[in-house]
Amino acid sequence: MKTIIEPFKIKMVEPIRYTTRKEREEILKGAHYNLFMVKAEDILLDLLTDSGTAAMSASQWAGIMLGDESYAGSRSFFRFENQIKKITGLKHVIPTHQGRAAEHILFSLLGGKGKVIPNNTHFDTTRANVEFSGAEAVDLYIDEGRIPSVDHPFKGNMDLGKLEDLIKRVGSDRIPLAMVTITNNSGGGQPVSLANIRGMKEILSRHAIPLFIDACRFAENSYFIKLREDGYGDKSVLEIAQEIFSYADGCTMSAKKDGLANMGGFLALNDDVLAERARTHLILTEGFPTYGGLAGRDMEAIVVGLEEALDEHYLEYRLASARYLGKKLRQAGFDIFEPPGAHAIYIDAQALLPHIPPTQYPGQALVAEMYLEAGIRAVEIGSVMFGRRDQESGQEKPADLELVRLAIPRRVYTQSHVDFLAEALQNVYDRKDAIKGMKITHETQYLRHFTAKFERVE
Ligand code: F0G
Repeated sequence: MKTIIEPFKIKMVEPIRYTTRKEREEILKGAHYNLFMVKAEDILLDLLTDSGTAAMSASQWAGIMLGDESYAGSRSFFRFENQIKKITGLKHVIPTHQGRAAEHILFSLLGGKGKVIPNNTHFDTTRANVEFSGAEAVDLYIDEGRIPSVDHPFKGNMDLGKLEDLIKRVGSDRIPLAMVTITNNSGGGQPVSLANIRGMKEILSRHAIPLFIDACRFAENSYFIKLREDGYGDKSVLEIAQEIFSYADGCTMSAKKDGLANMGGFLALNDDVLAERARTHLILTEGFPTYGGLAGRDMEAIVVGLEEALDEHYLEYRLASARYLGKKLRQAGFDIFEPPGAHAIYIDAQALLPHIPPTQYPGQALVAEMYLEAGIRAVEIGSVMFGRRDQESGQEKPADLELVRLAIPRRVYTQSHVDFLAEALQNVYDRKDAIKGMKITHETQYLRHFTAKFERVE
């Protein structure tokens, strides 16, 4: 069979609302051209994020009813702990309400002024938590990872030479841990190979630097390894995941991605002393160690979700969905970040809108235009998200790339939703030369993209 189908049938549906172009113009103005400020009800197809937006399965909903809501020693926690230990082999499992809470605990303990944290690419909340602690976040992905058009099977890989150079330059005592984000969300959702993770571990071990994995999309990354890396074709995705984590001293995870849950996350690690400190911090900020930031029912949904995310029919469908969207956008004329990852397609907004300089946010301009066209919501991953303004001069250092991400919620949209989306984006493509840049009229110091206000540059 050539056609890859959704490996599920639909038991429950949720209506989506159409708006008129005139309504959308008003809505967009009211939201100051920031799609984070638009009500979800006013969106037709919501590709803002794949985080917390999955459709849960019947088994997950059944798990919700089985949640043990005991304050201490909940049965659901032990199931949660067992499941995560089975996949990661890590000794201590600390539940948090989502990924960034795990990051916050980790960097509160290990970050701080003078410290340097390397990563292939820090996700925005990871970078923000590193910087909030006073430490410096450094991105060390391979050169191929910077060029959207370059084809490479593992474009999310860390540049091991740059990692060695960094350690030599700043000294291992200033690097309390290194991270690797699988898949590399802020670098086009590209996977990282096992050879690369092994190489990282080898370098870091020589300098006694722990390796932590940002594991949000570990199942998708593991499936790419199965498909693309020599020697892994016959291994199960679970075995591949287990090998990945065998090189890790710890991980942070947002279960809102490959946990197939609407909320949740965890920090897992081997170091006993650090784990005790993390649990103390957890009690202060999240909750008692057997629930952290979660209800028992949330942990049950994650236990089942982690199992389902490793199902190879599901992963095959998941990757096929992204490939299909990528193909449609390519046909419409867009340059996309090649090759397609699993959770999203990234449009190269700078290539599409060469007349808009990075300081006028081509990605934000495109995102606004997509909403106007058909109520589609996507997210800018460019200078709005990663540009850095010098607090004194007000000058802005743009991001490396100006991308727009169309994230695909798990098990939510069908092929005809994607066909519709492609038709709408074709219209946007056809009038690209008339699209105008944006300027920021209000911003905050951290994570400004969530609340920034924009105006069109006339
Ligand atoms: N790390 C990565 C790689 C992520 O993609 C995210 C979230 C986080 C950490 C933080 O997890 O949201 O549970 O606190 N990414 C979402 C996204 C928000 O849209 O890509 P969280």
